[in-house]
Amino acid sequence: MNAVFPGSFDPITSGHMDVLTRASRIFDHVTVTVMHNARKQGKHLFTLDERLAILHEATAHFGNVSVDTFGGLLVDYMAQQQQGLILRGLRAVSDYEYELQIAHLNRQIGEVETVFIMAATRWSFVSSTMVREIASYGGDISEMVPRASASALRRKFADVYAAREAGQAAEVE
Ligand code: PNS
Repeated sequence: MNAVFPGSFDPITSGHMDVLTRASRIFDHVTVTVMHNARKQGKHLFTLDERLAILHEATAHFGNVSVDTFGGLLVDYMAQQQQGLILRGLRAVSDYEYELQIAHLNRQIGEVETVFIMAATRWSFVSSTMVREIASYGGDISEMVPRASASALRRKFADVYAAREAGQAAEVE
């Protein structure tokens, strides 16, 4: 049985990696597919190409995981790929209501089943949004994301860090 793990992955976190690792042991093949989330329109830190590059690097060690992208409805992608199940991760009860709604809608409009894998509790408070915010202030996110995401975040915020350091130096002088 194959699974599709869809998401924004802006960028992929250790929570996503945990879910993916567990899924790779259960399913024959898992496709990590970057998709468009209308609620996050215009709010992405990384471009689509950057997110795909990070995902390729972060998942290279899996023998049965591939990376893809699709710009339409998830159910259309599932029909096109004949991929089996939708896989989503759950961190805490707060994720449940939203995920329940999407899972029901996807079954109603596309007759596709969704399975959930619970991320380990140590990742229950880790989200791409929080990671982006902490990284933007120069905080340590190395535990919360795979190395590929951490390097990409460092590159993305290099100018911000440099400007902040220059500002701090000026304040001290
Ligand atoms: O990582 P995210 O942002 O929670 O992932 C949400 C995503 C991208 C899986 C969801 O928005 C999605 O399926 N987008 C594709 C368009 C679609 O099918 N929308 C209907 C279900 S919300």
